[in-house]
Amino acid sequence: MPKSLISIQDFTKEEILHILDMAALFEKDRERSFLSGKVVACLFFEPSTRTRLSFEAAVNRLGARVIGFPDNRNTSQSKGETLEDTIKIVSNYVDLIVMRHPMAGAADIAASVASVPVVNAGDGANQHPSQTLLDLYAIKKTQGRLDGLDVNMVGDLKYGRAVHSLVDALRHFNPKFTFTAPEELEMPKKYLEMLDKDGIPYRQVSRIEDGLNECDILYMTRVQQERFPDMAEYEKVKDVYRLTASMLGSVRPGMKVMHPLPRVGEIAEDVDATPYAYYFQQAGGGMYVRMAIISYLLGYSF
Ligand code: CP
Repeated sequence: MPKSLISIQDFTKEEILHILDMAALFEKDRERSFLSGKVVACLFFEPSTRTRLSFEAAVNRLGARVIGFPDNRNTSQSKGETLEDTIKIVSNYVDLIVMRHPMAGAADIAASVASVPVVNAGDGANQHPSQTLLDLYAIKKTQGRLDGLDVNMVGDLKYGRAVHSLVDALRHFNPKFTFTAPEELEMPKKYLEMLDKDGIPYRQVSRIEDGLNECDILYMTRVQQERFPDMAEYEKVKDVYRLTASMLGSVRPGMKVMHPLPRVGEIAEDVDATPYAYYFQQAGGGMYVRMAIISYLLGYSF
């Protein structure tokens, strides 16, 4: 089976650091067409702006070509074709598959039948490993290191796949976590048990004010409406946190606010002009990180 990126655990700490180094080289020089002749499929069964377009831009900048779809309504899945059959067929046409799917575990299924590498571009509430690599890229760039940071994750920690992958990855780097969430959206037990096993400290709070001034990274998240089985439950928690510029008066000087985006109200627009806002630059780095992921999985490493 070719090497894929389905969960962040598919990459060792050394591989993670190597991807970040490659991304930095791509950021210095993004016109590198050494994948000319390759074809990459971007199969998005769920909406996306950043992930799909930055993967597609990455493919183009590497000199490869891209095929795929931004939603599956016009594919033979609408006639009942299985995910497995779709992936087996697409594997014949391309050198690598990038896939987003609403079902947790879908990327794993795809990788098990694909004859080419698969990159998980988000599978339900499970994992989003390429997001995590770009998050680490942003963290390293702003803090000068990955080791020993205080990371405060805020919002929907239950359904947010970006925070699940990021917690998993940061275990390599001696973090201290604060998890800020209402009871309904707490970090799943599976991740807390992982941290307990590794002896990584964390605390759980429900008021955003409780963890604002003691963190290096404030990782805000959107409440994931699309994952709630009951809309009445979503209505109860949808506006639980709203970060405004006036709340940032006593934060650490180098603290950065990050967010996988899209935001829908949890970060007020007046935060954008503060020196703490980094979410747009964070997303911008995603293209270089995805250039590195694609190159690495296709056997081009430097
Ligand atoms: N962060 C992220 O996955 O954004 P998109 O849903 O726009 O791809």
